[in-house]
Amino acid sequence: MAGSLTPEILDLRHVTARQMRPLLEAEAQLWQQALRWDYRSSTELLLDYLNGRILPGFVTLQDGEVSGFTFCVNEGHKAVVGDAFSRTAFSRAPGDEGRDATLQLLLSHLLSLLRATPGVDRIEAQLLLFPSGSLQSFFAAEGFTVFPRLFMECDLSMRSNPASRDFEARSLPPPDAVIPEHLVLRRWTAADFQGAAELIHLAYTGHVDARINDQYRTLHGSQRFLHNIVRFPGCGVFQGSHSWVIEERRTGALAGVLLCSRVADEVAHVTQLCVAPALRGRRIGAYLLSNASAQLRRAGYAAITLTVSEENTAAVQLYRTAGFHTRRRFDAAVLGGEQSRAG
Ligand SMILES: CC(C)(COP(=O)(O)OP(=O)(O)OC[C@H]1O[C@@H](n2cnc3c(N)ncnc32)[C@H](O)[C@@H]1OP(=O)(O)O)[C@@H](O)C(=O)NCCC(=O)NCCS
Repeated sequence: MAGSLTPEILDLRHVTARQMRPLLEAEAQLWQQALRWDYRSSTELLLDYLNGRILPGFVTLQDGEVSGFTFCVNEGHKAVVGDAFSRTAFSRAPGDEGRDATLQLLLSHLLSLLRATPGVDRIEAQLLLFPSGSLQSFFAAEGFTVFPRLFMECDLSMRSNPASRDFEARSLPPPDAVIPEHLVLRRWTAADFQGAAELIHLAYTGHVDARINDQYRTLHGSQRFLHNIVRFPGCGVFQGSHSWVIEERRTGALAGVLLCSRVADEVAHVTQLCVAPALRGRRIGAYLLSNASAQLRRAGYAAITLTVSEENTAAVQLYRTAGFHTRRRFDAAVLGGEQSRAG
């Protein structure tokens, strides 16, 4: 018998983790193929939340099976679209995934729910599996502003870079003389949390990324951002031993921070790199990155990935110079909540 054409849509809380597992496993495979990201720990975390019936979201059912899902995470006045996936979206031609009717049905339901939720005045979405453009017209029609972003990768394995001694040289830290004498590089410690949050808040003042993620706009938001990176496995598992700070020798004030998580056995992800505005252009960012690359390679990592907004040309140029290439272009979409909030 032919399958039904229009999927049935249900509240996410009406399905069990067991019903969801096959679809989540299919999605995890795509994360691995497309982004070298081992999504299994995120899958398990999500299944826990599903069991707890606490996530707002929707699923589609087709012929009795879960064929798609979406959910969001509410953070006070803001909702973040946590994920959206449908099997049929990824059987379409590359670049066309976001035009899938099931996916759009799910997202439309989620946005209607959020628009009707008292107190929610901002929605953010970054769906990395969907190439840039594929969801753009959907989000634009819903009133969102869309920002192109890049998922970049630097291959650390010499085998795939037989070309060059240059590569080896690039990945080693530049001589100490490169950072000014009054600064010193050291590993991250838990005691850096507050200083790093203050630096992040300062570094993103007036920055495009503060339009995409409003946490950057306040000190409290920057603390939450950091808390999520360091304590939760949603963006990989934080690696304190591969995270670095540059501080003022005399005062201990932070001048630059690079934070790193593990997203697969041999793949590290830079979750944050920033330098104090007053100290930019002195190769501190380049120093942090080349030092981290050299250490990661020594520890056996095969690749480093990161995401960056396309219009952040200083950072894109820094990454290109350091040997990163664009693996995927995707979109960040933002609705409302443009004004900075006290925090
Ligand atoms: C991006 C950032 C970390 C760069 O740090 P920095 O210490 O100023 O950068 P460096 O001096 O090490 O520059 C290294 C290379 O990056 C590129 N670069 C840095 N700033 C640039 C700028 N304003 N315009 C163009 N290229 C720039 C250049 O290629 C430069 O190499 P060069 O010195 O040989 O020209 C810093 O601008 C920053 O903190 N920005 C705000 C936070 C941010 O955007 N982080 C990245 C998010 S993905």
